[in-house]
Amino acid sequence: MYELFYEMKHTPFTRGIPTTALYKTHQSSEVFSRLEYTAKKQLFAVLIGEPGTGKTSTLRRLKAELSELEYMVLYLSDSKLTPRSFYNYLLMQLGCKPVLQRNTARDNLHKQIEIMRGMQSRKVVVIVDEAHLLDKEMLEEARFLLNYRMDSENPLALILSGQTELWDKLRLSAYRAILERVDIECFLTPMDFADTKQYIEAQLLYSGHDSPIFTEDAMKSIFEFSGGNPRLINRACSQSLIYGSQMKQNCIDSKSVDTVLENEVTGVSQ
Ligand SMILES: Nc1ncnc2c1ncn2[C@@H]1O[C@H](COP(=O)(O)OP(=O)(O)O)[C@@H](O)[C@H]1O
Ligand SMILES: [Mg+2]
Repeated sequence: MYELFYEMKHTPFTRGIPTTALYKTHQSSEVFSRLEYTAKKQLFAVLIGEPGTGKTSTLRRLKAELSELEYMVLYLSDSKLTPRSFYNYLLMQLGCKPVLQRNTARDNLHKQIEIMRGMQSRKVVVIVDEAHLLDKEMLEEARFLLNYRMDSENPLALILSGQTELWDKLRLSAYRAILERVDIECFLTPMDFADTKQYIEAQLLYSGHDSPIFTEDAMKSIFEFSGGNPRLINRACSQSLIYGSQMKQNCIDSKSVDTVLENEVTGVSQ
């Protein structure tokens, strides 16, 4: 919509941004290294963050950057997972047919994991996104994947990613058995103002627009609105760019951003 006016080759501030163009903060790089280590050493990690802080993006980057020759990454994101569908979704990603019986599905999955490990020498990484929505039975089932072999090494790496409720849940005594198995904890929090500014600039660079569009004060307004949350920054910037292009503004100042964000809050522009 505004891409033509701002002479952009790619649409910035979207979910579909390529993983190579993701902005790296000190924190997101640290989280990424921990997840990479989890995959390499076949550990159990949890990734926690408020909605929109970049969990799924980080997981996308992990999948993209782990070598396909060495790793088989299985990704699930389904709030209604049952143990049977959990095993079957994983089996389907491994190219196998789903089965009706939960125990058969589980046994088949174990066999497939052994094939990956043995014949293909690939390490399996299971990622369960939106894990805060899963019930206790399902979380336990996921955790059982780690010890079906009874030996000291895990047969795969497991990453549970979810909102803060997941962490709150795992700290309840009823979930202690799961929490005790967690090797790596990762937390993603919103960005500070300096990172928010660089994030916006990095997105504009990705779009192919080669000069700044937002003034310093405009970025301050965006930061105030978003609290440094990438999803909210994206929303504020996209709406501002639409407005800016309609008003034929090459440079967007805080007055324009505030006008747009006022509407956002009251829901007028949604
Ligand atoms: N490091 C980043 N660089 C560029 N865009 C990002 C980054 N982190 C998050 N985003 C963007 O912010 C939005 C929310 O990120 P997402 O990973 O879906 O968050 P979460 O999974 O924590 O809810 C997405 O549109 C995503 O593209
Ligand atoms: Mg997500």
